[in-house]
Amino acid sequence: MRPVHEARGAVSFDYIGGELCAERVPLATIARDYGTPCYVYSRAELSRAFVEFDTAFDGLPHLVCYAVKANSTLAILDLFASLGSGFDIVSGGELARVQAAGGDPAKVVFSGVAKSDAEIEAALASGILCINVESASELDDVAAIASRIGVRAPVSFRVNPDVDPRTHPYIATGLRESKFGVSAIEARALYRKAAGMASIDVRGIDMHIGSQITDLAPYREAAQTMLALVDALEDDGIAVSHIDFGGGLGVRYSDETPVAIADYAALIRELVHGRRQRLLFEPGRRLVADAGVLLTRVRAIKPGARNFAIVDAAMNDLLRPSLYGAWHAIEPVAPRERASARYDVVGPVCESGDFLAHDRSLAIAEGELLAVRSAGAYAMSMSSNYNTRPRACEVLVDGDAAHVIRRRESIADLIAHETRLPPRNAR
Ligand code: LLP
Repeated sequence: MRPVHEARGAVSFDYIGGELCAERVPLATIARDYGTPCYVYSRAELSRAFVEFDTAFDGLPHLVCYAVKANSTLAILDLFASLGSGFDIVSGGELARVQAAGGDPAKVVFSGVAKSDAEIEAALASGILCINVESASELDDVAAIASRIGVRAPVSFRVNPDVDPRTHPYIATGLRESKFGVSAIEARALYRKAAGMASIDVRGIDMHIGSQITDLAPYREAAQTMLALVDALEDDGIAVSHIDFGGGLGVRYSDETPVAIADYAALIRELVHGRRQRLLFEPGRRLVADAGVLLTRVRAIKPGARNFAIVDAAMNDLLRPSLYGAWHAIEPVAPRERASARYDVVGPVCESGDFLAHDRSLAIAEGELLAVRSAGAYAMSMSSNYNTRPRACEVLVDGDAAHVIRRRESIADLIAHETRLPPRNAR
């Protein structure tokens, strides 16, 4: 494990001698060596964010389960595993990634509304910490699979506390009308049922109310509902051994004021005062967003009714602006003294919805490099091959060294799983 003092105080992305660097490596050097578009991560910032979150709960029995979906690249999972992290997964594929990265299944929780039989079986066979069950039907599935393979399935129920996390509607998950979890009333009945099932081992309780949350009030409200249920369950003779508060803490993309980790931890400490259960957390974005940039080159400047800066990264590399109208800061890698203009920063994909930013003031020229900030979370992990665009490479910077942690895809990679028509006599 890397010492805490080394991870603290790291400068992840900053200008050195007028050039934007990842730690001590100029982004221009990375573009020259590995091409663009390219995701660049700071190892020091990843470590710092994990250590900050983890140490905020010092003295309480707890486990931070990094939400793999935010960035599921093996080296990132490897780094968090080496720092002691557990993982929150939502598919068998994510479990396989955690295992391939050396993560311990005994520190993995499995969320999601529609786990397949194969995924449930793989999770149980791996010795997973907990399956977060999201419906009555799923409880029956888990019980049947556990009984067939001769194990007791560790489960919790995901409680939907019906609170408004005041975030983008696509990423709010704790409202009654959302597809996630079960109401506190239904959960109580399900716990009673589960407690009587031979192949089920009731372990915990969990919630996850949404993402990019910048206010503590919805956490308090939701946690109070969940903790009241823990007390009701004790009245029913059912004791849970862990309480999982989910993820969702937001970051600053533009002018948001993120919740300080210390304030979040203080709230949790106040809420669980006097309880003895182990606490679980599922942060994703907060651990990785600020640790990454998407490096892209300006291919063309196209003036007109709107000025376009056409760059080589597109919606397939960073979907958040197109999907959520999300705002990401965009900065020149080597700022020059010249007049600025307002640009729509767009990619090569054939959709008018392909944009990284609208109406940004930038002093840029063709051929120059731009860094799209806060691209460590939900960027590569949501990327696609739309327009048959190979996915970009990923580079992890550690001090003055840069390591490719995922090579750029080739066109051959993209068509490798396809065939032409069957031979004519078989058509
Ligand atoms: N736990 C569960 C069960 C989740 O569904 C999620 C995220 C997390 C934890 C981690 O949440 P975080 O700490 O990262 O907010 N693609 C969207 C975000 C979708 C989040 C989905 N669930 C975006 O780019 O904003």
